[in-house]
Amino acid sequence: MLALLLASLLAVHSLALEVHVPNSPVVVLFGTDTILNCTFSGVSTFNLSQLAVFWQLMDAQQSVHSYWKQQDQLTDQAERFANRTSLFHGQLASGNVSLLLKRVRVVDEGTYTCFVSMESHSRGAILMQVAAPYTKPSVTWEGDANPKPGDVVALTCMAYGGFPEAKVLWQDGSGRNFTENATVSSVANDQGLFTIKSVLTVTLEPNNTYSCKLTNPRLGDEGHAFVTITAQGLAFPPVALWVTVGLAVCLLVLLIALAAVCHRKIKESCEEMRAEQEAKELEEAKELEEAKSATTPLKS
Ligand SMILES: *[C@@H]1O[C@H](CO)[C@@H](O)[C@H](O)[C@H]1NC(C)=O
Ligand SMILES: *[C@@H]1O[C@H](CO)[C@@H](O)[C@H](O)[C@H]1NC(C)=O
Ligand SMILES: *[C@@H]1O[C@H](CO)[C@@H](O)[C@H](O)[C@H]1NC(C)=O
Ligand SMILES: *[C@@H]1O[C@H](CO)[C@@H](O)[C@H](O)[C@H]1NC(C)=O
Ligand SMILES: *[C@@H]1O[C@H](CO)[C@@H](O)[C@H](O)[C@H]1NC(C)=O
Ligand SMILES: *[C@@H]1O[C@H](CO)[C@@H](O)[C@H](O)[C@H]1NC(C)=O
Ligand SMILES: *[C@@H]1O[C@H](CO)[C@@H](O)[C@H](O)[C@H]1NC(C)=O
Repeated sequence: MLALLLASLLAVHSLALEVHVPNSPVVVLFGTDTILNCTFSGVSTFNLSQLAVFWQLMDAQQSVHSYWKQQDQLTDQAERFANRTSLFHGQLASGNVSLLLKRVRVVDEGTYTCFVSMESHSRGAILMQVAAPYTKPSVTWEGDANPKPGDVVALTCMAYGGFPEAKVLWQDGSGRNFTENATVSSVANDQGLFTIKSVLTVTLEPNNTYSCKLTNPRLGDEGHAFVTITAQGLAFPPVALWVTVGLAVCLLVLLIALAAVCHRKIKESCEEMRAEQEAKELEEAKELEEAKSATTPLKS
């Protein structure tokens, strides 16, 4: 009983019109032509004069391309798609109702529906995404032409004409990530393509390189540019070195002198103490003598 039901359901299903579209997003390069694939199957008798196809941009509710009575019907086509769309008329009889869209723009991005009617009807939806590669980024810096270690400089990284917005990564020669200390701004031109500008404020280290990497998330390509800043010489400029050495020598001399003075003072006070001690001992001895001589008469 159940098997019979299933079989009949399957039979009905196989008779119903089915629309096939790619189910992953279609990424199209800006300015190129693309085919949005859409095919259908499941009709019992194929009669082209009964076929109707409606391509629409779902989000904007705009008509992209329509077909019925065996011809294109473009009176209600949105202006922005004028002269940029076509169906493959020779392929319609084999169920291929794919849309050719020419010179893809950023604003074309969105979900397209392919609606097919013949005996019954059905539809499929395709997400189309636009991508444009950025120019190779350039890195410049403002300020001193001869930067020194410890100088704070602003490095600017610029790239143009990409879509969508890029990720920026700043690193130094040893791969340290400086991105958190950079600002990123992007401005779209009238075609929707971005100019990316990132400014990194960094305290220069001697002889270091700073690089800016741009990644277009949709293309995965890495635009990459770097700047090598050879900050003037050593971290210890010669003048500072001599001043330091001079100061150190002075300090040393001072310390020695101080030590010598102290030593003498200690020695003097020691001698004084010894002299005092001796004097005291002498006194005691004398007192003892006197005491002795004083007791003598008593004894005798
Ligand atoms: C359209 O379909 C054809 C045939 O299946 C395939 O070769 C082509 O890559 C598809 N194009 C796109 C943009 O998906
Ligand atoms: C539909 O026909 C066009 C033109 O021949 C072809 O480029 C495209 O790949 C076809 N699509 C499918 C899904 O077969
Ligand atoms: C196709 O459909 C048209 C209009 O419905 C009809 O006049 C014509 O006879 C049909 N052709 C076939 C082969 O069924
Ligand atoms: C489309 O092409 C026709 C004929 O070449 C032209 O008259 C019309 O201005 C074009 N429309 C657009 C929007 O480019
Ligand atoms: C970012 O800047 C802060 C403050 O100037 C500094 O403490 C920190 O070390 C910097 N981060 C990196 C990765 O250099
Ligand atoms: C670099 O740092 C930024 C911000 O702190 C972070 O988002 C990013 O994932 C880091 N990238 C790498 C490659 O470490
Ligand atoms: C600076 O970098 C260059 C190239 O990496 C290296 O040859 C040189 O020894 C470095 N100088 C200093 C002072 O670190």
